Amino acid sequence: MTDFRDVLALEALPEGRVMTVRVDGHVIGLARIADTAHAFQSLCPHDKASLQDGKVDGCQVHCPRHFARFDLKSGKVSAGWRVDDLRLYPVRLRDGRIEVDADALRRQPPEGPKKVWDFT
Ligand code: FES
Repeated sequence: MTDFRDVLALEALPEGRVMTVRVDGHVIGLARIADTAHAFQSLCPHDKASLQDGKVDGCQVHCPRHFARFDLKSGKVSAGWRVDDLRLYPVRLRDGRIEVDADALRRQPPEGPKKVWDFT
């Protein structure tokens, strides 16, 4: 089953950066590569640094803390690291907007606390 949720216009997502968005209380990362978007857990599997402060180069996201790189198509980490894969979430584009599969998020939630309340 899929349950795609509208999260952002593709045009609002700059290339080379990670943007975080909230879907059903889960904070996830988004990255744009040309005309595609990728959704993934926003905390690094190594030591939980926020990938929002990292950069996107080619189809890899670079962690800002210890510089591990994760492939945004497979979730695999760069050579030399022994950490879990980056959790990826299915994305589709509809009329220029990014939609993320909330059912996949429920089945395999990103690490980190789910934010039920938001007073910001
Ligand atoms: S926290 Fe990301 S590589 Fe260490």
